[in-house]
Amino acid sequence: MKKVVSLLLVLLLSVSLIGCGNKNKSADAEATPKVGVTIYKYDDNFMSFVRRAISKNAEDKAELIFNNSQNDQAKQNEQVEMMISKGVKALAINLVDPQAAATIISKAKEADMPVVFFNKEPSVEDMASYADCWYVGTNSAESGVIQGELIFDSWKAHPEWDKNGDGKIQYVLLKGEPGHPDAEARTKYSMETVVDKGIQVEELELQTGMWDSVKAKELMDAWLAKHGDSIEYVVANNDAMALGAISSLQAEGYFSGDKFMPVVGVDAIPDALTKIEDGILVGSVLNDAANQGKATLELVLNVAKGEAVLEGTEWKLDENKAVRVPYVPITLDNIQIAKDCYSE
Ligand code: GAL
Ligand code: CA
Repeated sequence: MKKVVSLLLVLLLSVSLIGCGNKNKSADAEATPKVGVTIYKYDDNFMSFVRRAISKNAEDKAELIFNNSQNDQAKQNEQVEMMISKGVKALAINLVDPQAAATIISKAKEADMPVVFFNKEPSVEDMASYADCWYVGTNSAESGVIQGELIFDSWKAHPEWDKNGDGKIQYVLLKGEPGHPDAEARTKYSMETVVDKGIQVEELELQTGMWDSVKAKELMDAWLAKHGDSIEYVVANNDAMALGAISSLQAEGYFSGDKFMPVVGVDAIPDALTKIEDGILVGSVLNDAANQGKATLELVLNVAKGEAVLEGTEWKLDENKAVRVPYVPITLDNIQIAKDCYSE
């Protein structure tokens, strides 16, 4: 056994030596620095667009090492160590667990490595604990407020949606990952906004579908079996879950004839835009993947080159060292804005 191990070690060593030999091949290493990127999991619909935007903006500018963290924080921690040992100049991190920022920061500090977090926002304390970290994302609360406004406006325009005529919206809510700032804020502010604007609401169900279509469909199947037509509105923290709910509703005969159920989402991903055009989805909130990917790349590239983080960019940092890309309400009327965002 020992022999096998030492043989393996020798092999590994020679492989890494060969690796080292090749390293010098790029005379232009400074111009295209190595940057390590993690995505919390590749099979997240919205994140696949952010990933694409990061890659596209990196062309001829950076050598990206992408990692699929497969929704496993321990795996991501190892990937970060691995990238540091491979000599990356900076990290762009989409955390698995937003609470794990401190772990990544301590590894980065030790290696004197700048970090740009994106999409999953670390706490204010974690952000303040390290001068060389930044965040690119959104103002989570804004998406909740905009979604609430979409719900309010559509409800006002369709008095027939109040099926039991009690003046209240009986709703079910599909929540994203608990503890994720986007999921918490969207859940809180969407219905709070509706109430603030003067419509009463009654929550029939609220559970997490973990941003996921399949999980959301299962929940919706169960809720329809339990509440049937007493449900008057389906509110989803993202489009992937809204689409899952829609397929459950379609299987129950909704969206054909005059059987309708209002559904709203967030992200405005292409599959959701199709549903808006078909008159199935009421609306969504554009989560601008193109600009979030662009900002992430531009910031991480700057710090990888040792330049000031905003050098040559159009972005601004808030007091928590965050770039916040605005959300946009999307309905059939302005759907082109979202199409343009995702067509790049
Ligand atoms: C949100 C997005 C979700 C999901 C999540 C992952 O901003 O709306 O669809 O991608 O990020 O962290
Ligand atoms: Ca009602």
